Amino acid sequence: MTIFICGFMGCGKSALGKVLSQKLGLQNIDTDEYIVEKYQMSIPEIFEKFGENTFRKYETEAVKEITGKNAIVSCGGGLMQSDENSRLAKLNGGIIVFLDQTFEICYERIKGDKNRPLVVNNTKEQLHEIYNKRSEIYKRNSTIELIPGDTPEQSAEKLIKLLDSKGLLK
Ligand code: S3P
Repeated sequence: MTIFICGFMGCGKSALGKVLSQKLGLQNIDTDEYIVEKYQMSIPEIFEKFGENTFRKYETEAVKEITGKNAIVSCGGGLMQSDENSRLAKLNGGIIVFLDQTFEICYERIKGDKNRPLVVNNTKEQLHEIYNKRSEIYKRNSTIELIPGDTPEQSAEKLIKLLDSKGLLK
């Protein structure tokens, strides 16, 4: 079973991925960490040296390599903007969860972060626009939507119940 968690930067994908993988006894993969390790470069370095398009290609490669693994996968915020990545993730029964956090909460967590090129290069208003555009695409490209709880622990519990009620927990 592969469960991909998508959503905007700061929505809590990585924290939820960690708790969920412990609860379900599955490996936890973070696509940003996966790419940083594979290419031995930080994300800002990849953006600077090769540009965003190259980073997006690395993300697609990562999805191809990961899909079908027994794992919880926390995706970089832009990964499920690609219909192709969503299609690849759903191969072999992969499930995509959209973690639907409010913009204000996401923004409070990401503001001033130098390790996120989109945050460095956009104002709060621009990020809000990106958030609004992306929300529609996350919805289209995911299997289920999850409104987060107050803590990653609560979100994981909610998600497990939701997956179970839909017969998606194997
Ligand atoms: C990005 C989100 C980041 C990272 C990169 C681009 C995006 O991941 O993949 O900086 O386009 O939203 P997080 O969502 O983990 O911050």
